[in-house]
Amino acid sequence: MDIVQAKDVFTPTKPARIAFVERDAVNDKLVNSLTTPGKQIVVYGHTGTGKTTLLVNKLMQLYGRHITTRCMKGLKFEQLLLDAFDQLAPYYTAERQNSAKTSRALDLGASYELLQAKINASTSTDASEKQARLLPPQLTAQALGRFLGAQRACWVLEDFHKIEEAEKAKLSQLMKVFMDLSDDYPELKIIALGAVDTARQVVDYDREMRNRVAEIHVSLMTEQEITAIIAKGEQALNVKFSPEIKRLVARHSNGLASVCHHLCLNMCHAAGVTQTVDGQPMALTSDHCEQAVKTYVDEASDSIKGAFDKALRQRRKTQYANAPLILEALSALNEGGAARADILRRIQRREPKYPEANLKYLLPKLCTPEYGGVLRYDSNSGLYSFADPIYRAYALAQYHRETVPSRTEFEAFEQTLLRLLTERVKVERARDLTIMFHRTPRRT
Ligand SMILES: Nc1ncnc2c1ncn2[C@@H]1O[C@H](COP(=O)(O)OP(=O)(O)O)[C@@H](O)[C@H]1O
Ligand SMILES: [Mg+2]
Repeated sequence: MDIVQAKDVFTPTKPARIAFVERDAVNDKLVNSLTTPGKQIVVYGHTGTGKTTLLVNKLMQLYGRHITTRCMKGLKFEQLLLDAFDQLAPYYTAERQNSAKTSRALDLGASYELLQAKINASTSTDASEKQARLLPPQLTAQALGRFLGAQRACWVLEDFHKIEEAEKAKLSQLMKVFMDLSDDYPELKIIALGAVDTARQVVDYDREMRNRVAEIHVSLMTEQEITAIIAKGEQALNVKFSPEIKRLVARHSNGLASVCHHLCLNMCHAAGVTQTVDGQPMALTSDHCEQAVKTYVDEASDSIKGAFDKALRQRRKTQYANAPLILEALSALNEGGAARADILRRIQRREPKYPEANLKYLLPKLCTPEYGGVLRYDSNSGLYSFADPIYRAYALAQYHRETVPSRTEFEAFEQTLLRLLTERVKVERARDLTIMFHRTPRRT
């Protein structure tokens, strides 16, 4: 049995490899698009659904080379081109040292170096002492396409939704150029990833390109897929989770694999498993599970509190306490999410005159970072739900402490989570009160 590290098996914060499970729903489409010359690809879906992981694993299985550019707010299209150009340097350097070359490769290699020298020479220093690198006119879309294509590489643009609209339009043009170059360079393609609801929010391309751009939606993971992650982990580490624990973790993860990885890694730590166990499989018990949940809550509590503070902040004077009403209502409804009409009905049980307009306004807001991103909206099902299962548990702890434990199907695991979160909420309330009482008026 191969000895592997627990942190390389359960990977809450990086792409899974050892515990990677195939996503049947998108696999064929992605494989087809990757192997079709000239096909450009847009991968979209909520944060944490597994876009990066899926792509990284598929590229490893199917593709020779790829380069990845991570997009950030404010990044200009020219900087993206330069970044891709820079990342090709090691390949061209390696090629120069290799004597067996075709004349086309020789020409390209020479022009790569020429451009590289130009870019380095044109580095300008502006007043703020920030070094801005200028894109030379020779580094056109065609040129970059040839440089990438000759290395049989594709170009992955991570988090492309963060780029501004005006800059995005240029990517659509670039995709077109890459399509046209695919005769000469069959591997050349762009893969843009975005944490958004539709492919068009990632790249708004022309109608005529429609058939040549694959839109691949990565949805939340199913409970079976999450269970498969645990099973892979068991095998790699020679440990055994009880069926009960598996079921609870899979259910509680609510489609987010990172929650599953987190809990499983914490359980391994609680049991002292840092790598593959020698001999008989090690059984992980409900005690380990409880400890794991405790660590998970401890680690997450600051960020949960931060997110809720943003969500609940009173931004202007209103008749209703809108955000608390919404969060309370949603947490009482099905954990898979609820439609706006259901949330409205639930709120109106308490506030019969509650206007739908308030809901229409605030629900989408609660999905944005400014409001802590506590909710997510799934345009396929039309349902709103908590963005992370732990947010739902936190809301339950805040608003439904008395009613919830009496729910018949309520399970030990969730109770632990709730108990821990309830303790947190109490501590925070006490702290907030202390701060309020001790706050002395500022002297002017
Ligand atoms: N197919 C998969 N198999 C196992 N774990 C996965 C899979 N897809 C995602 N994960 C895990 O889920 C988490 C989020 O995945 P990530 O690829 O970063 O999502 P996204 O790029 O959509 O935000 C990571 O912890 C990753 O290890
Ligand atoms: Mg990602």
